[in-house]
Amino acid sequence: MRFVPAIFVAIFSLTQAKAHDETSVQPDYYEAIHQAEFKLAETLDTKNYGGLGEVMTDDVVYDSRPLGPDYGGLSVGLAQVTANIQAAFGGAQIAHYVSNALIKPLGSQAANVTTYLTWSRWDPAAENDPKKTFRIFERCDDLFVIDDGKWKLKYSLVTQLGPKPESPYFAPA
Ligand SMILES: *[C@@H]1O[C@H](CO)[C@@H](O)[C@H](O)[C@H]1NC(C)=O
Repeated sequence: MRFVPAIFVAIFSLTQAKAHDETSVQPDYYEAIHQAEFKLAETLDTKNYGGLGEVMTDDVVYDSRPLGPDYGGLSVGLAQVTANIQAAFGGAQIAHYVSNALIKPLGSQAANVTTYLTWSRWDPAAENDPKKTFRIFERCDDLFVIDDGKWKLKYSLVTQLGPKPESPYFAPA
C-alpha cells in the first residue's frame, strides 16, 4: 500500500502549514505597526493601487505639500490619494526605503509613527530630468489606527529632510 505514507505526509504538511499561518502567529503591538508600514511601502512600490484600502483608511489624509508643488500636494480621502499617487508614479520605477520607526502609542487602537525614508523615482525615458528621476529623503509623521482589524495609515505629514530632491546619476552604459 504505497499511498498510505503519502497520505500521512500530506496530513503532516497541512498541520505544519496551519501551525505557521498568519492567523496563529500574531505580531506584538510594535511589530504589527512595523509590518503595516512595510506593507504600505510594498503596496506602493508594486503599484498595487487597488490594495491601498488594505493599508490606508477611507478617510486618509496625505499631506506632502512641504515637498513643494512639483513633488507633493494635499490629498484627502482614499479615492483622491489613490488617484494622485497613481498620477505621481506614472510609468516610472518606484522604491520606498523605509527606516526604523519611532512609535508613540495612543492606546491600543492608534499610534503616532515617525519614519525616515528615501523615495526614489526613476523614469527610464528621462533619467536626467530632476522632476522625473529623483530621490527625496523624507520624514513622515503618521497616524496609524486599527481599522477593520488592521493597522492602517489615517494621516501622514511628509517633510523633506534635505534642501531639495537629489537628482541621481547613472554610470555610463
Ligand atoms: C501625536 O501626533 C500629534 C500630531 O502631530 C501630536 O499633536 C501629538 O502630541 C502626538 N502624540 C504623542 C503621544 O506623541
